[in-house]
Amino acid sequence: MQETYFSIPKHISFKTQKNNFPPFIMLTSPHSQCSISLYGGQVLSFIPKNHPDILWLSEKAFYQEGKAIRGGIPLCFPWFASEGSPAHGFARIMTWEVIDSGIDNKENPYIKLKLEANEHTKYFWDFKFSAELLVKVSQKLEINFSITNEDEKSFSFTEALHSYFQISSIENITLRGLEDCSYIDSLDNNISKVEENAIVINAEIDRIYQDNENTCIIIDKKFNRKITISKVNSHSTVVWNPWIHKSSTMKDMQKDAYKHMFCVESANVGEKKVLLKSGETHTLQLSIEVSSP
Ligand code: BG6
Repeated sequence: MQETYFSIPKHISFKTQKNNFPPFIMLTSPHSQCSISLYGGQVLSFIPKNHPDILWLSEKAFYQEGKAIRGGIPLCFPWFASEGSPAHGFARIMTWEVIDSGIDNKENPYIKLKLEANEHTKYFWDFKFSAELLVKVSQKLEINFSITNEDEKSFSFTEALHSYFQISSIENITLRGLEDCSYIDSLDNNISKVEENAIVINAEIDRIYQDNENTCIIIDKKFNRKITISKVNSHSTVVWNPWIHKSSTMKDMQKDAYKHMFCVESANVGEKKVLLKSGETHTLQLSIEVSSP
């Protein structure tokens, strides 16, 4: 049983779910706690000491095979949005397996999950690949998302760590780090525009910042915290909030939930797709840290 083999007393445990849904993994460090769903390989929460959860998870999320869990950090692979079907790829609706776990000398735990090509993934995408997700928690949440081409042919893919951040309320936040950057406005015929200022949100937003490796900072006046989002090997940043109308059409979002979530996604999408030759590996790294302003 992977539960017994990969558990570490006080640091890593497995939590059984109802209706045969795959278990959640709970990581505990001296500084934080984190939960990860084996279904989707999805981080669901990251709670540093003395802070409300950094990640938002919908109270109406579905925990059901075939559906994505709304919130946390869904993994979009091997495509983003409706570049293919199902939307955002199949990685977020597959069950991953644990392949490694451990703690460092400061008692910070990590866990490594894997998803390999199988009959089910081949139905959607006919390539041999392996995907690995390394999640480590300390004061920070650190994620390495690696894709290896196990096929004889080259392939390309798009991807995103679709992070849902929990915020006190949408009117209290400012997003810094994308000033003077150009973006594609998905809500305005994919027209290219330039962001002049720090971002404040007062309407639906769905934008892709290309050629963008910038560190972003969410400043939350009411929670009195800054969330710093840094990344490596990610050339696209997606910013999304569905606002009132769109969220009211989503069965897995509560009314008004749009006020308490905000997505800043570390990605490689559109023309920033990743091309991998046989045997090559690509790793996208994400680090999320909280501090006081
Ligand atoms: C964002 C996209 O990344 O994900 C949006 O930019 C999309 O266009 C959103 O609506 C949510 O997608 P889904 O498939 O999880 O409802």
